[in-house]
Amino acid sequence: MLAIGSDHGGFELKEHIKKHLEENGIEYKDYGTYSEESVDYPDCAEPVCLAVLNGEAERGILICGTGIGISVSANKFDGIRAALCSDVYSATMAKEHNDANIICLGGRVTGRELAFMIVDSWYNADFLGGRHARRIEKIHALEK
Ligand code: RB5
Repeated sequence: MLAIGSDHGGFELKEHIKKHLEENGIEYKDYGTYSEESVDYPDCAEPVCLAVLNGEAERGILICGTGIGISVSANKFDGIRAALCSDVYSATMAKEHNDANIICLGGRVTGRELAFMIVDSWYNADFLGGRHARRIEKIHALEK
């Protein structure tokens, strides 16, 4: 299951991505926000990060206006590797090299169709392990 969340700046893109996931048979749970009313992005990042960390969700998608605030927030959680992506190459690498368990998008930056390709690339990629696993361990060491 994928956890998905956004602030008001990412709300519209979140709704489009939900439809895209449904069309592709990918199960998700929406952790809000549920309208374009202004909210604070750290509050929107938290439930998605906790869902990933407690195993309720395998991975997550977070969206704010730029993707910056929500990715910075998500990366405050130990064990979260949130990658802000606006291109397909980075999205693929985010999984293959960084084992990103959350992908972040800017709803005011990235168009809908590109966003779908970014999500698909990340979702379908596999972590390559090896030297990349060593680097992930070093990220965990930095968290301590
Ligand atoms: C909200 O206006 C906006 O600041 C937020 O969505 C995000 O872009 C912050 O990084």
